[in-house]
Formats: sequence, C-alpha cells, structure tokens
Amino acid sequence: MTLDRLHEQIVASADNPLEQARALPPAVYTDPAHYAWEVEHVLRNEWLCVGHVSQVPESGDYRNVDLLGEPMLLARGKDGEVRVLSRTCPHRGMDINPPEYGRPAAGNARVFRCPYHFWTFGLDGKCTGAPEMQESQLFCRDETRLHPFRTEIWNGFVFVNLSGTAETPLATLYDRMGTQLAPWRMGDLEMVAEMSWDCPFNWKILVENFAECYHHIGAHSKIFEPLFPGKTCWSEDEHPGYTVAHLPLIQPLADEVRAQQSSLRQFVDIDTVPVEKRTDWYVYVGFPTFLLFAAPDRVYWYQVSPDGPERMKLLTTLLVLPEAKQLPDWDQRLAEDLEMLKAFHLEDMEMCTAVQRGMHSIAYQPGALSHLEKPLWLIQRYLARRIQASGGPQGGRKPVPLRVAS
Ligand code: FES
Ligand SMILES: [Fe+2]
Repeated sequence: MTLDRLHEQIVASADNPLEQARALPPAVYTDPAHYAWEVEHVLRNEWLCVGHVSQVPESGDYRNVDLLGEPMLLARGKDGEVRVLSRTCPHRGMDINPPEYGRPAAGNARVFRCPYHFWTFGLDGKCTGAPEMQESQLFCRDETRLHPFRTEIWNGFVFVNLSGTAETPLATLYDRMGTQLAPWRMGDLEMVAEMSWDCPFNWKILVENFAECYHHIGAHSKIFEPLFPGKTCWSEDEHPGYTVAHLPLIQPLADEVRAQQSSLRQFVDIDTVPVEKRTDWYVYVGFPTFLLFAAPDRVYWYQVSPDGPERMKLLTTLLVLPEAKQLPDWDQRLAEDLEMLKAFHLEDMEMCTAVQRGMHSIAYQPGALSHLEKPLWLIQRYLARRIQASGGPQGGRKPVPLRVAS
C-alpha cells in the first residue's frame, strides 16, 4: 500500500462516528515510510516530554536524553533555569557526553567538556573555551554554543519541540488538562523511581494500550479489574490536545476514600486534590506521547522514545510528594509500589509485543472498536488532523470535524 493510500484510509476512517470506528490499518505500526512521515510531521513537529524538573534539582545537575536520533542534555544552569541542549559538539559533531565510554549519563558538572578536542561549554550551552583556535578566522567563541532546543516547562515536566516550529504553545494545547491536573501540583512532586524497558513494538501500540481501560477486563483481570472495572471507565469528549479516561474506583474503595481511609493510599495524599477527585484515577495521553497516570497520592509518567517503526524505549517513572520520603516505612512502600508497577506493566508489555506480531499476519483485518476504546478513535482523529495539516491526502474531503469537549 502506498503512503498516500494509507493516509487516505486513516482520514476516511477518522470521519466515522465512534460506533463505526475500527482499529488502524496494520501498516501504521510497521511501515518504515509511514514511520518516517510520523517522525517528520508528528514527533519532531510536536511537543515531546523529556523529563521532570525534579530530575535536575540543583544548579549543575544534568542528564543525557536521547530522542529520535538527537543526543541531548537536560541541564539546570547557574541561573536555576532548566534547559535542553544538544550534545552534538559545534566543532566536529562529537557527542560531548557519549554514553559509550563510561561517562556518567547523569550527574553534576560545572562545565561540559567535549572529549575530542576539549572545547568547553557552560551549563547554558555557551562556549567557554576552545584550545588552539586563535588562528582560525572563522571561529568566534561568543557565537559558538550547544544548540538549545525549544523548550517549555509545563507543570514541572520538560518538553522539547525538536523542529522549533510547533504552532501551538504547550500551555494552549494542554490547557484544560493543566486546569484539571492543577490540584496534583506536579511541579512540586519528586521523581523517586525510574525503570527502563526495551520494547519490540511501535510507539502507538503502547500509547493506545495506555489510553484505553477496556483491557482491564482481559490483560489486567487480576490487578486493575477488581479496582476499576473496564466497563465503568469512561473517556471525556474530544479535545485537540489530549485524551483523558476516568477510572472510577469500585464502590467500597470509593467509600473508603470518602471516609479518608483509603486502603490504596501508598504514600502521602496530595492534600490539594479534592475528595471528589480521589474516587477516580485518571489516565491522560497528551498528544502525541505524553502518558500520565494520576492517583491521589502519586503520578506515574511514561517517557516514550520511538526508535524505528517496530521498536521503542520506555522509561516508567513514579512521582510523589517529597514528604512521602519521610514515612517511617518508605523503603518498603516504594518497593511494594514498584512491584505493582512492574506487575501491571509486564502484562502490558506482553500484550503490546504480541499485538505487534499480529500486525504482520496476513489474517489480520482491523477489527471494530468498543465504546470503551474511545481514546483510540480520538487518537486516530488526531493522526488524521496531522495528515491533513502536513498537506497529506485530502481525498476531496473536508477537514475532520472537531468535537471539542464541553
Ligand atoms: S568535536 Fe568537540 S572539540 Fe572537537
Ligand atoms: Fe494496561
């Protein structure tokens, strides 16, 4: 199938109502040409989350971030600003902090020194020294720097726009999501755990899996279904920037929350989250790859790094209020929660890995979606809008009508 034909199918299908929605064509998850299109028109053009401010709390703190072939540094400068800088040296293109040769991928530094010819750069990326360059008529230290990627900090999360051309500021794109999540005070939370995963599947398989709760019925029949049954979870109407699913707790657990005695409380409740918001947990997908799972006492953020049509890297992280670390049995609580995260994520890994295999089967024809898979339909409509915005196949159709959430 040609790329145009594939995109025509996506746009046509996104025009249908939810009751007529079906899964995307398998080539969307396997085709290198479509992946290349996505990298250019979806991923590099949009806002991608690369970290949280608590990962670099002090001036001089840095960590490597590798995304879509761009080696980058998340660094906090002397001025307290968090920046995302390229690690590609402006001299001959060396990685200034290459992970291959024992350089710490995270730490604290006064300057960054390229290992090749020892050009040095401040925490703000400006060149501070370059040995033996005095005879060059081209070199100008004041004009030499590590490339600063366009960055926005949203509720404590650090986003980059690799192309530098994103049309909509993040604050506008995620506006209502920011309002809804404001009580979680995510800028004050601290990342206390990270687990990395090599994933043999397309990034959208994970995003779709994360977005819908229909699979509680099957994949999470033991872990989540008894807490938030798939059939009672529901998703809000369309918003151009994100999807959100509500996961209402079963009645006895909701009653515990109202009585301030939640047996699901693992850490310290975020006291600004009102009680009526504690009886649901929330799953957000900020387009295209910002995955957030919010509970009354913690937030899980998944860092998605697509790595080819059928591979991605994933970091699953946990954020809590800093005072949770003062709990007398903190170590045990953390270990228990990570066990739980690992257990349900392994179930998701198993599903996503096998779904990717299914995308190669000649027997597979995209199936009908349940109303409980509304976020998948919304993701398709987002993808269709990106196709149309990129000047892709219009097929004589009007743009996909947008039902904005009330
Ligand atoms: S490539 Fe970095 S100093 Fe030469
Ligand atoms: Fe899941």
